[in-house]
Amino acid sequence: MNATMSLDKIKHYPVMLNQVLSIISPQRGGTYIDCTFGGGGYSEAILKFSNTKVISLDRDRLSENRANILLKKFPKRFNFFREKFSNLNKLVEKKLNPQAIIFDLGLSSFQLSDRERGFSFESERFLNMEMGINDCSAYDVINFLDKEHLATIIKVLGDEKDGKIIANKIDKYRRKKPIKSSKELASIVIEAKKKYNNYKRNPATKTFQAIRIFVNKELTELILGLIGAATLLSKGGILIVVAFHSLEDRIVKNFFNLYSNLKRNPSRYFPLKENKSSLFKLVHKKVLIPTLDEIDENARSRSAKLRYAVRNNNSFVDPEEFKNKFLNYFELEGA
Ligand SMILES: C[S@@+](CC[C@H](N)C(=O)[O-])C[C@H]1O[C@@H](n2cnc3c(N)ncnc32)[C@H](O)[C@@H]1O
Repeated sequence: MNATMSLDKIKHYPVMLNQVLSIISPQRGGTYIDCTFGGGGYSEAILKFSNTKVISLDRDRLSENRANILLKKFPKRFNFFREKFSNLNKLVEKKLNPQAIIFDLGLSSFQLSDRERGFSFESERFLNMEMGINDCSAYDVINFLDKEHLATIIKVLGDEKDGKIIANKIDKYRRKKPIKSSKELASIVIEAKKKYNNYKRNPATKTFQAIRIFVNKELTELILGLIGAATLLSKGGILIVVAFHSLEDRIVKNFFNLYSNLKRNPSRYFPLKENKSSLFKLVHKKVLIPTLDEIDENARSRSAKLRYAVRNNNSFVDPEEFKNKFLNYFELEGA
């Protein structure tokens, strides 16, 4: 599929949409920011409430095509930027006072089904894995990145214990000829992991996750996106994040713990103390997950984890504190 093909042929399920809507209550009107427009599922559902406005972002060209359809339908209430959400607070004015800022991380069903992108193991096209607005492709990473760095990326960003073995195998192949497609890469990884043959899922899954995260600097984006969102929200504004893998969810959980009312309270039996560095009230300490019915209908939703919190009035004085916790990710992703 390419960008000019119809997106309508692909079944698109906005993950945990009902929970998202019940948290943000768009029926009360106001402005909402959808940082990951994708197929526009969330944005469109919010725009169905007539007194809402939506500002959406996505780095992907396919999403821009989809956004153009919504722009025709809601010319006065919808705005779209083809941008990375790390630039959120450069795009949106602080005085906008959004009701909620939403992140639904990862890939859209359109990106996953697009063979040209090389996100799937079977793709014989160019080894790309770019979501959009990138400075390198998976082809560059696999063929030219230093072997040791490649091993660390696979190990840390893929949570893959065999990072070194896989990087050695990739290096052996690329010395003979460039590795050009995702299919080729998957078969090299499978060969490297052939000792372990009782896999429930494709043995290349973790390596693909690692390369995709690196190519798109996904962890750096998330850290900067959360900081941007906390800066933009004012009292009562809601920050919602739907994450799909443990690295992302760990960052989100850390963020809310660090800047929430719960963090610095010594015990739940003590009354909550007003803490000047807390920015959010965590409504649910525990993560929310999709219903069984949703998982039945859309298997991809099974790993979704939703966290949200409500902004208070305190100023965000120390974003560096959070950045410093994850300096290793910035370094690893070369950001
Ligand atoms: C899971 S999809 C979102 C689906 C959407 N909620 C819907 O209802 O259709 C994630 C989208 O986020 C976009 N995305 C991921 N990282 C991004 C970033 N750093 N900046 C902007 N968009 C990003 C991807 O391109 C993809 O289209």
